[in-house]
Amino acid sequence: MHVSKTVSEWLERRKALQGKSIGFVPTMGALHRGHASLVERSCAENAVTVVSIFVNPLQFNDPNDLKRYPRPIETDLAMLGDLGTDEVLLPGPEELYPNGYPFLVTADALTSLMEGRHRPGHFNGVMTVVLKLLNLARADRAYFGEKDYQQLRIIAGMAADLFVPTAIVPCATIRAENGLALSSRNALLSDAGRAKAATIHRVLTQCATAADAQAALEGEGLIVDYVEEHWGRRFAAAFLEGVRLIDNVAVP
Ligand code: PAF
Repeated sequence: MHVSKTVSEWLERRKALQGKSIGFVPTMGALHRGHASLVERSCAENAVTVVSIFVNPLQFNDPNDLKRYPRPIETDLAMLGDLGTDEVLLPGPEELYPNGYPFLVTADALTSLMEGRHRPGHFNGVMTVVLKLLNLARADRAYFGEKDYQQLRIIAGMAADLFVPTAIVPCATIRAENGLALSSRNALLSDAGRAKAATIHRVLTQCATAADAQAALEGEGLIVDYVEEHWGRRFAAAFLEGVRLIDNVAVP
């Protein structure tokens, strides 16, 4: 497994991959079984698997959230090695944003709902960095988890509209045994918090309406940003122990 820390180093590596099928998994690190499932799928479907680890400052609307985002880089690299990753992109902000933020990707109504409404600027940051990464990787396929369903829809829409030649592949959410959607942020919860966080999946799948689900979460002491239904799915975002968690399921 080779780790490129600069864009120029990666572009040299990329030249040597010409003619091979390439799968790409963009991440912000703090990898868990959910990421592992994306990497495994990429390895199964492509000759070469490229994973990026970059905690993108542009998509954090809350500076504290950015500061405390977990960064266990050595563990992440060991896990990627075990999974059979071929190439890792590990650039710093000065590599991906050498000129600051002179050009941003923005979008329409899709970004003013749910995550977009509660995290102003978040999706501009996501789309901008994902477009940069897709342009660098020039992969055949890029893998995104359905846990971030709104993000997945926005990225698929952006890629189609801007004629990005990489196929955007949706991958099912991976859950803990208690139903909690795996997320890098779960590492910030206590054991009791992780047990309680499973309430989100339970009420999303069991309550008759979104309003009932919101009331049930609040009854359990979570601070709810929203429970909403779109595209045949039910979405929730809520704070527990100061950690913001999101999940979504097919409308039951
Ligand atoms: O889902 C994530 O981890 C991030 O939003 C992504 C797609 C890697 C962009 O920074």
